[in-house]
Amino acid sequence: MGKKTVLDFMRMKREGEQVAWVTAYDYLMASYAEQAGVDMILVGDSMGMVILGYDSTVPVTMEDCISHCKAVRRGAPNTWIIGDMPFLSYQASDEEAVRNAGRFLKEAQVDCIKLEGGRRVASRIRAITDAGILVMGHIGLTPQSSSQLGGFRARGRDIDSAREVIKDALAVQEAGAYALLIEAVPPQVTQFIAQKLDIPVYSIGAGPCDGQLLICADMLGMYQAFTPKFAKKYANVSSVIINAFQQYISEVKTGVFPSDEYLYHIKDNEEDFVKLFKEFS
Ligand code: KIV
Repeated sequence: MGKKTVLDFMRMKREGEQVAWVTAYDYLMASYAEQAGVDMILVGDSMGMVILGYDSTVPVTMEDCISHCKAVRRGAPNTWIIGDMPFLSYQASDEEAVRNAGRFLKEAQVDCIKLEGGRRVASRIRAITDAGILVMGHIGLTPQSSSQLGGFRARGRDIDSAREVIKDALAVQEAGAYALLIEAVPPQVTQFIAQKLDIPVYSIGAGPCDGQLLICADMLGMYQAFTPKFAKKYANVSSVIINAFQQYISEVKTGVFPSDEYLYHIKDNEEDFVKLFKEFS
């Protein structure tokens, strides 16, 4: 299969074909995701929590994102890749937003960028789109501004909050975004938005629409600090890794490892090696 384009994602929406995507932050994970056949990969600023060990996404820098996007591109050369704009890379001005968005394409060869917010980032979405860069919006629970929202909390659960989410969705499409991601919103609100908008609408914890995103470290059972309600675990990789490390430690300490099959063997006579060693003793 060749790499998908924005036209494929539009067609998939029209034809009701679901888009399955995951986050990845490095070469290895990206190569597994591509081999599995995901439709697209997000190099999320969630790397701040699951890779860099911060307690939020706020400290993540442009340099972090560019470096991880490059690694993901090397691991998944034939997959649509979305670079996530980190906190303060687009908030200050339209011009700064365009320059930073452009870096993702020029330096890391991603296919588009994603940024958080609805009405309040509409002019950023417009400016980046006018620069010829595809933008995916991200509304609902927006982790970069989660402290303003009172923490990592679902949005749109009451009428007032749902109205705000719907207005944000309309603003994102109006500003020129090619797609929208909705996070942690009840399915009734998401479904309404997905039917109302012409652009593809994707969900992370927001129920059925045009496709689903999960964070790789959650779905694989790797991230231990916290698992959101919506993250279904498809594997328990952390226990596989810890068990392997424990077995290795035990084998090193008891001398079981390294056994003969893991050793390089001498090519000359054993006696010649004994003589060699004597030269130095
Ligand atoms: O950074 C990320 O992985 C994200 C998802 C939480 C949507 O933005």
